[in-house]
Amino acid sequence: MNYRITLLPGDGIGPEIVAGAVKVLEKIGARFGHTFEFTTCLIGGCAIDATGEPLPRETVETCLASDSVLLGAVGGPKWDTLPAAQRPEKGLLGIRAAMGLYTNLRPARLYPALRGACPLRADIVEKGFDLMMVRELTGGIYFGERGRREGKYGPEAYDTEAYSVMEIERIARAAFEAARKRRKDVVSIDKANVLETSRLWRETVHRVAADYPDVTVSDMLVDNAAMQLVRNPSRFDVVVTSNMFGDILSDEASQISGSIGLLPSASLGETRRGLYEPIHGSAPDIAGQNKANPLATILSAAMMLRYAFDLEAEADAIEAAVDQALLDGCRTADIAGGATEGILSCTQMTQEVLKRL
Ligand code: IPM
Ligand code: MG
Repeated sequence: MNYRITLLPGDGIGPEIVAGAVKVLEKIGARFGHTFEFTTCLIGGCAIDATGEPLPRETVETCLASDSVLLGAVGGPKWDTLPAAQRPEKGLLGIRAAMGLYTNLRPARLYPALRGACPLRADIVEKGFDLMMVRELTGGIYFGERGRREGKYGPEAYDTEAYSVMEIERIARAAFEAARKRRKDVVSIDKANVLETSRLWRETVHRVAADYPDVTVSDMLVDNAAMQLVRNPSRFDVVVTSNMFGDILSDEASQISGSIGLLPSASLGETRRGLYEPIHGSAPDIAGQNKANPLATILSAAMMLRYAFDLEAEADAIEAAVDQALLDGCRTADIAGGATEGILSCTQMTQEVLKRL
């Protein structure tokens, strides 16, 4: 089969890690008899520099016309002072909205080989964990009305969160479907003791749950969830939550898995196309130094094969190669646990994965 993939390397370490994932996809293509046709487009800061906009129309059109999209990261200090509408992050939020990608799947698990990199207590590490965060991605406070105005105490700013029943229903369904392929347990996270959107969220999730009698469901307040993630992460299978809570909790989940450099994600909508990206950012401090960990992006490419193209064996092969590289002691700086010798560069880590494919 022939698959057309749009690459959005973006800023900072984006180009380095996407290059690693492309090498891995090419190897998979050769081994399994597929061709991947890559087209590279601009997004984020590099797009602002070249065109004045974080999301040029050509990028949106190319993404919509391709079979899938692989993104690196956007943003950096160079563009931090631009007005909100022209920031690199606007490019990322814009492409999520333009492609209708309301479901963000962020799996986090503890790699046995990386137990030493987990900051949790030994008895908690011992139990391990393997969870799937299902984050709503095109609604809530990220996309609500916002602005500046004159308030009771003078000038003020406001952001608003709105969720429709339809938006909650479809993300809840995505979570229950994901749970059916896993351990059949969903924890829905909200702040229903304070927020009206959370009360509607809770009601709606439970109504949808009636269609999935084989899946258990429970609610947890977000502050408690932040605590339980470090206290007892093995209790989570599928977690479903709003855009902003999911943003925050997925960074927390990545830290307990050892490094943010390991976590992939898939952003999906009604069509199977979708956008695949590591959950980490552009890491401007190490950009251009060949130090970044490419594994989150390589694992995102594996998610693409599985979700966008139904290439299960090919996805498994990538994940097995990554597991094996970690078991064999291959380490980039972020997962080296303070070691100073034998640390691999981004390209060397990619080579180690390729060798095991
Ligand atoms: C993420 C990122 C983005 C988000 C930023 C860069 C806009 O933090 O994908 O988690 O908040 O969604
Ligand atoms: Mg984030």
